[in-house]
Amino acid sequence: MPGVDHPPPRVEKRGNVDAFRIVGGRRLEGTLPVSGAKNAALPMMAAALLIPGRSIIHNVPHLRDVVTMHKVLAELGARGGYPNHSFEVDATELTQVQASWDLVRTMRASIYVLGPLLARMGRAKVSLPGGCAWGPRPVDLHLRGMELLGAKVELDHGYIVAEAPAGGLRGAHIAFDISSVGATGNVLMAATLARGTTVIENASREPEIVALADFLIAAGAKIQGQGTTTITIDGVSSLSPVEFDNIPDRIEAGTFIAAAAITGGQVNLVGARPDHLAIVFERFRDMGVRFAIEAQSIQIEAPSRLRATRITTAPYPGFPTDLQAVFLALLSVAEGTGVVTETIYPDRFTHVPELARMGADIVLSDHVATVRGTAQLSGALVTSTDLRASSALVLAGLVAKGETLLHRVYHIDRGYERIEDRLRGVGANIERVSIAGP
Ligand code: UD1
Repeated sequence: MPGVDHPPPRVEKRGNVDAFRIVGGRRLEGTLPVSGAKNAALPMMAAALLIPGRSIIHNVPHLRDVVTMHKVLAELGARGGYPNHSFEVDATELTQVQASWDLVRTMRASIYVLGPLLARMGRAKVSLPGGCAWGPRPVDLHLRGMELLGAKVELDHGYIVAEAPAGGLRGAHIAFDISSVGATGNVLMAATLARGTTVIENASREPEIVALADFLIAAGAKIQGQGTTTITIDGVSSLSPVEFDNIPDRIEAGTFIAAAAITGGQVNLVGARPDHLAIVFERFRDMGVRFAIEAQSIQIEAPSRLRATRITTAPYPGFPTDLQAVFLALLSVAEGTGVVTETIYPDRFTHVPELARMGADIVLSDHVATVRGTAQLSGALVTSTDLRASSALVLAGLVAKGETLLHRVYHIDRGYERIEDRLRGVGANIERVSIAGP
């Protein structure tokens, strides 16, 4: 790929895989900077396909998922580079409309190219993403949205094959029966170039959708209502190149606060957006964590032992499902009994048996986990099947007695940039090691 000048993702030695060796018991102290949001960067990168010319997105983290999206764009003919956390992309000429299985299977968010391709090229062929480690993740709402915009959509040999009507997509009234971040983003992107007005009801209110809308508005799109459940888009005939600052990653911020909290630490978080974390702060406060929120930083002070609380995941502004695993790790060592109810992905509990191997006392019934806090976890060999489960296991390792060896850290590399270096920077005893693969 032309122009890639950041360090390539680690290539593991033949037969070897990366693991984290963590020795628990160190209190985290110091300053931690928060990266740009992965889940905002990915749709913005896809949205660049709508724009002939060279666009720049600043504050894009160096992550495996971002590299994958870069490859998807390159496959479509967009030329891109990635210097210093700024993603530069020139989508003047797109040479094809197919996102292949090889790439989509490694990252579901590749489906974000569906809407932009249909809107700009009138056609798209995108591999159907498969299931996820924790269960099925349908894309029916994305497809229904494209159909309502006038596209003909068929499934063919594992691919979504979509074609816009003659004259292009048409504005439509789209009421989602489930709040979906991905489907809202896909329709939002497609509708910017549709003829007429599109109204999305029960739209996702996530900050990442607001950021995507702001990116598109900066490129000349006419969008109103982002951040509410009704978004209105008046189609325009074309968009112009844009230079845009990505928002900080609220999930990474929450994970770092949790790392400070679980070690009884005192950390200064720089660059986070407190307004994106309101309900997360509330649950941390329930657990005894104190915050001093300043213009550019958040000071975190954790008690010597956390108190249990209850969390229920929900679409934004509710508690994010992406921090559910991390809170389960916190509750494992908190005083009292905590309850975690997962309403978005009922099966997203693959971290539970692994936390149990470290001594956590968690009873899972349907989509509710009841956690009896224990005073001390113990280090163990653990493995993870997805990104957020991995971060929960890292946190558990930071307080467990002795050594934890976390396998399959490639999952964590999808969503956190060099997490081990940054945690080490505030005192954690964690290192990346290469071990014999399975
Ligand atoms: C995004 C995030 C992911 C987060 C999730 C929920 C990205 C790249 N990923 O995923 O980290 O965990 O939001 O906050 O931003 N659904 C359907 N049909 C569809 C689409 C979704 O039934 O066509 C359901 C899902 O199964 C789920 C719910 O809607 O139960 C919400 O999923 P959605 O918001 O679409 O998640 P993603 O956009 O895939």
